[in-house]
Amino acid sequence: MDILTLGIESSCDETSVAVVRNGREILSNVISSQIESHKEFGGVVPELASRMHVQNVIQVIDSSLCEAGCTLEDIDQIGVTFGPGLIGALLVGVSAAKALAYKLKVPLCPVHHLEGHISANFLQAPDLEPPFICLVASGGHSHIVECIDYGKFRILGQTRDDAAGEAFDKISRAIGLGYPGGPAIDKAAKNGDPNKISFPRVHFENSLDFSFSGVKTAVLNYINNTKEFKVEDVCASFQNALVSILTENLMKANEATGYNKIVIAGGVAANSALRASVTDAANKCGAKIYMPSPILCTDNGAMIASSAYYALKRGRQADLELNAVANISLESI
Ligand code: KG4
Ligand code: ZN
Repeated sequence: MDILTLGIESSCDETSVAVVRNGREILSNVISSQIESHKEFGGVVPELASRMHVQNVIQVIDSSLCEAGCTLEDIDQIGVTFGPGLIGALLVGVSAAKALAYKLKVPLCPVHHLEGHISANFLQAPDLEPPFICLVASGGHSHIVECIDYGKFRILGQTRDDAAGEAFDKISRAIGLGYPGGPAIDKAAKNGDPNKISFPRVHFENSLDFSFSGVKTAVLNYINNTKEFKVEDVCASFQNALVSILTENLMKANEATGYNKIVIAGGVAANSALRASVTDAANKCGAKIYMPSPILCTDNGAMIASSAYYALKRGRQADLELNAVANISLESI
């Protein structure tokens, strides 16, 4: 029998609700982005995000059901991002999910946001099964993760300072390309020389950790101390440095575990240079590579519904005491 999961995501600046069949097939995935409202402030304003989620969530749920061609009565179970993220923003999604689960008398499943990002891959690759190695790079996190089984993770490396997406956003703001920085830098870099400026690439001995604050500072110093430069060259050279660090650690992790199955996820996985670089590296060593289409890399409800489907199968169910958590490790779910 088919199982329909309603997935709700509201951890940052996207209110998104999706209906997913059997954990893999998207029936609808409505994403209401707040980017235009946060743009003038140069980044996400938490209080504004919470208020906008409150204004939007009911309408997004209705649109998602309508697009999926079903009603609330057809929903078998509900998944919701409970953390990590902006606490006020998370609370809106968690409250809506609890109200629906109570009314419909269906199971409610708490989903870790990064687990959701990883699961975006299950929506487009019918053959993908754990175990595999995954790079999860978003605005708030940069992790190398061993996905041992559905919902079971081991963090092999993580950033010691800024997240990759955060570095994109900060450089973009400094260079005048606005928020969000990732897509803007990705676009500008297409017309620049990735080898024009040599920015530092930090490696740690015997560790798969990242550090992006050094490259960020080097770019900011370059912008401040250089009289004339081509913005496109700075973007391409910065992106090149970042992408090469991400790719190198991902490939090292794959080699160490021997899975030969590599996955990328999170907003930064939408980056065209990163996608090309990991595809090339995987092809060279004969590993299989998976990546969601760019729209499923950034925050969406479908990835949460997919995670909830597999987590509920393994008995992860919450009661109406479920609370949002601003910080929680992927290993502790
Ligand atoms: O996963 P996501 O939607 O939200 C978080 O969980 O943080 O990721 C958003 C981040 C932002 O920092 C944004 O600049 C970055 O992903 N991003 C990109 C691209 N598209 C989004 N970074 C690099 N290249 C892109 N094309
Ligand atoms: Zn995210």
